[in-house]
Amino acid sequence: MFQLKAVSSASPDLLYAELAQQLTGLLADERDMIANAANSAALIFNTLPDLNWAGFYFLQGDMLVLGPFQGKPACVRIAVGQGVCGTAVQQRKTQLVADVNDFPGHIACDVASRSELVVPLIHDGRVIGVLDLDSPTPARFTPIDQAGIERLAQIFVAGSSFA
Ligand code: SME
Repeated sequence: MFQLKAVSSASPDLLYAELAQQLTGLLADERDMIANAANSAALIFNTLPDLNWAGFYFLQGDMLVLGPFQGKPACVRIAVGQGVCGTAVQQRKTQLVADVNDFPGHIACDVASRSELVVPLIHDGRVIGVLDLDSPTPARFTPIDQAGIERLAQIFVAGSSFA
């Protein structure tokens, strides 16, 4: 049985190295994408400090549809090209937003959110969804968080099956 371990806060690099190891272990015996997305969101939300939302949207046609998450109830559908999530899909590029009020078209699901990090999920060269993190603190996310969460997104995609 997987046990959530205390992770080091000595340095952000170390924290993400430990998180990557924990996520690899957590997903080792399961390939169901919903189960793995649910456990990935729970691990991230309960390990990283200062988050108010962490979760997944999966692409259905040209629409992102809400997947497993931790945090307050969120917008269910986001069109490609809209908001921070839809922009990450359109550009196939991580969006690191220091202040959501400065992002034109930002979709406010939780008014407490002040900064956001959205990583596209790439499977077989195609975007299949996003991993989205929100924080109530402006400029919460750094390039180290970006690299760390991109690694976790890769571990989730590599460890799961997609129809
Ligand atoms: N803020 C996102 C919407 C999703 S929620 O943050 C959970 C956006 O602008 O796409």
